[in-house]
Amino acid sequence: MSKIYAVANQKGGVGKTTTAVNLAASLGYFDERVLLVDLDPQGNATTGSGIDKREVEWSGVDVLLEDVSIRQAIQSTDGGGYDLLAANGDLTAAEVELMSAEDRFHRLSRALGGISGNYDYIFIDCPPTLNILTLNAFVASQGVIVPLQCEYYALEGLSALMETMERVRETQNPNLRLQGIVRTMYDARNRLSIEVSEQLLTHFGDQVYETVIPRNVTLAEAPSYGRPIIYYAPSSRGAYAYVDLAAEMLDKAERVKQAEKVTEESNNGVE
Ligand SMILES: Nc1ncnc2c1ncn2[C@@H]1O[C@H](COP(=O)(O)OP(=O)(O)OP(=O)(O)O)[C@@H](O)[C@H]1O
Ligand SMILES: [Mg+2]
Repeated sequence: MSKIYAVANQKGGVGKTTTAVNLAASLGYFDERVLLVDLDPQGNATTGSGIDKREVEWSGVDVLLEDVSIRQAIQSTDGGGYDLLAANGDLTAAEVELMSAEDRFHRLSRALGGISGNYDYIFIDCPPTLNILTLNAFVASQGVIVPLQCEYYALEGLSALMETMERVRETQNPNLRLQGIVRTMYDARNRLSIEVSEQLLTHFGDQVYETVIPRNVTLAEAPSYGRPIIYYAPSSRGAYAYVDLAAEMLDKAERVKQAEKVTEESNNGVE
């Protein structure tokens, strides 16, 4: 079964797409089987994966509207090391059409259910709003990865996001949890960055990833070449940071697996 994570924050420009693309590529580099779902009509994850969004034959729209199977719509990325379900502006139309569908929150979840054995990790790059597309991602996921820029209003937005997650947990998907908060565009020389980061650690403790993504100009350049950072600039600070984040995720997953095994063994022992 795949681990499915929505990469979400309703605040714009905080590093969702950069995190989704580079985690996908870094885990692919570690030989994990990865699918990246671009669920943002801006199609930035599609472009950043080297796919021209004007030339996409089938995209997430066609899958959400059930015109094609997800297997048909998924494409491989050229040298990215992961597969992609692409997006373009048509997703906005899908959003409108979905509103009147009874199963409108479950379309993505159902589609991913059909291919979940094919991938170790599925990342869903969400748009910067808590709309029906983001809710589809939350219903389909077991965890939400929240990229957060350590600046003044960052924590305020977080409570609205947590409330939405709570509502989805109560009504649609009891398994949904906060997978982790990633500090992005971090500037260690900026007092505010340090202060917000400390507040974040006080409130969320080990739900904050230890790995910090620094502000790094090569990370901003890479998408215009359609390449994840590990292939565009493998020895940049940005590349190291995302490889570290992927390694931290794998470590955590391994620890959870071991803990589950111990629980299972001790339960069996009691019987
Ligand atoms: N660590 C970083 N250092 C420097 N620039 C970055 C970094 N992370 C992201 N950027 C740049 O900041 C901008 C916003 O990042 P990104 O597109 O990943 O955010 P987003 O949250 O997906 O935005 P949106 O809400 O519009 O979808 C982009 O130009 C990106 O290249
Ligand atoms: Mg984005």
